[in-house]
This record gives sequence, C-alpha cells and structure tokens, in this order.
Amino acid sequence: MIDLRSDTVTAPTAAMRQAMATAEVGDDVYGEDPTVRRLEERVAALFGHQAALFTPTGSMANVLAVRTLVGPGQEVLCEESAHIARAELGAHAAYTGITMRTWHGPHLDLTAIERLFAPAMGPFFVPTAAISVENTHNFGGGTVLPTADLRSLRTYADAVGCAVHLDGARIWNAHVATGTPLTEYGNIADVLAVCLSKGLGAPAGSLVVGSAEAIAESRVWRKRMGGGMRQVGVLAAAGLHALDHHLERLADDHAHARLLAEAVGVDPASVDTNIVVWQREDAAEFVAAAAGEGVRVATVGPRTLRLVTHLDISDADAARAAAVLAALN
Ligand SMILES: Cc1ncc(COP(=O)(O)O)c(C=O)c1O
Repeated sequence: MIDLRSDTVTAPTAAMRQAMATAEVGDDVYGEDPTVRRLEERVAALFGHQAALFTPTGSMANVLAVRTLVGPGQEVLCEESAHIARAELGAHAAYTGITMRTWHGPHLDLTAIERLFAPAMGPFFVPTAAISVENTHNFGGGTVLPTADLRSLRTYADAVGCAVHLDGARIWNAHVATGTPLTEYGNIADVLAVCLSKGLGAPAGSLVVGSAEAIAESRVWRKRMGGGMRQVGVLAAAGLHALDHHLERLADDHAHARLLAEAVGVDPASVDTNIVVWQREDAAEFVAAAAGEGVRVATVGPRTLRLVTHLDISDADAARAAAVLAALN
C-alpha cells in the first residue's frame, strides 16, 4: 500500500529508533530529562524565542499556545478551515472558554481581519485578543502564507494591540519551500505551535514556542490537562534526530506532491508544499477505487480529496501512485 492520507503515517526510521534507544532520560515533570531540555532549547533558538515546551500533540500545543494569548470570554480570529477551528474538536472553547470568528481563506485576508477585529468596548462585545494563522495551511492544500502578508499582519496586530498565534504544524515545509528563515516566522508570532510528527517523521511530539513567561504558564497548564510526561527523552530524541536529518529532504516531498497533482489534473504550480487538495463529486468512490489499486487517499470533506507526501514515499512510490491515480482520474 502507498499511503498518501497524511504525513502523520510515517514509521520511525532505523536510525531514528537507534537515537531513541540510546537517549539519555530523566523525569521531565521534575524538569530532569536532558534530551527534552535540549530539544526545547534548540527549537526555541530556531525561532528566536526565549523558551519552548514539549507536548504530546500539535492539538495540545495549539490549545496551550492560544491560551497564553486569549482569556475566557475573549476571542481569537482565524481562517474558517484552520485546524484550530475545524479539527481540534472545540478544544479551545471546551478547555479555555474562548470563542472564535473566522475569515474565508485559505490566504491571509487582512481586510477581512480588520473588519472582524473587535477592540475592548466594555461589557457589550467580545474583545479580539489574538489573530491565529496556519502556515502551511493544511486544508487549504499545504498553502504557504506569503512572508510579506505575515509581516503586514504583525504590523497591524502591533498597531491595534493584538497578539498573533502561528499554527506551524508544517512551518518546516514553508521554510524549505520558500527559504524564509525560521527566525522570520518566529518574529511574526507571539506564540507558535510546531509539530515534529508531520513532515519531519517523528512518531509523536510538538512544541509550544514563545516567551519564558508564556512557556512557564503553558508548563502548568500542560500538567493540568494531563500532559505532564516522564522519561519522554525517548521521544525528544526522535525529534532531535528529525531536525538533523529530515528537514532539508522535505523538498523531495514537495516535488512528489507536484507530480501527483499533475496526475490528478491539479495545476502543479498551485502546489506549494506536500499537500494536494482537489474536488470530486465521487470522492468516496475514488478513495475506494484507489485503495483497490494499492494507493490510500483521504477525504477531508464530502467532495474533497487530499494527497499528502512524506518521508515514507520514495521516488518509485510517487511515480507508481501518479500512474494509478492518473488511470483512475
Ligand atoms: C495544521 C495543523 N495543526 C495542528 C495539528 C494537530 O496535530 P496533532 O494531530 O498532533 O494533534 C494538525 C494535525 O494534522 C495540523 O494539520
């Protein structure tokens, strides 16, 4: 089976398993896991922030990150198909009592944001405390948000006194696709969430990245939510290994995605990174037919299909999948 449902389906490589097996560990709830600390310090520095916190999942990292910026009864603005709005099962409302309003994207629409933004006006309206952006944008088809737009957003947010959250589950793909330094992405956000378990190929793990204060607060809330982990250096070691060995190769995934796009009739020039999204009336039937030919494809809506390339898709797999999908198209 060639599995193109998500970049989360990868298995740790032999070298990654070796790094995990030999990781130095300690009790991380006591702050005594040296490998976790190394990962947290390294990722904070990559984005030019003071500190970072290892979390089991990207969803938890997002909840913790947004929570540092938006209090109960306040709102975060985001794009309507953002992961935080659509795919975290209402966690932000359920855990931290915040609300969301959305603009139509997937691109960053500053005009819409300006229209939505609500300053604090006393006991009448929900105040906007943060604006959240997702880069790359998952359901938007792995779309990269242009750095110039992000800079404009930062300028606007500073002018109106509002914070910026970046869901950077796939920020690594944006970095490799555009050459934009990670510190530049760090600059535009007060708090980021980044994942090791997507394109980087680690079996689990994400990080919240931000100020020392935001991270100290997030450490308390992570424990409160049941996310305090113990000898978790075995997982942090996988993340460190991924940063060393799996970052630059994301360019291969992007080339594979363009090949697949062409095969299913999507303009390859419209594919920024490792995700291809396209519409078909018969999406469910197409998934079944592709599976019958040994290619797993996902639906992310009743008429929306998604292909995601990753570490476990070789050149030969991409070519075979392209042939199968083209024949079914
Ligand atoms: C953009 C984005 N943010 C956050 C997440 C959440 O990550 P996790 O599945 O580790 O909770 C995902 C997962 O696919 C994602 O695509």
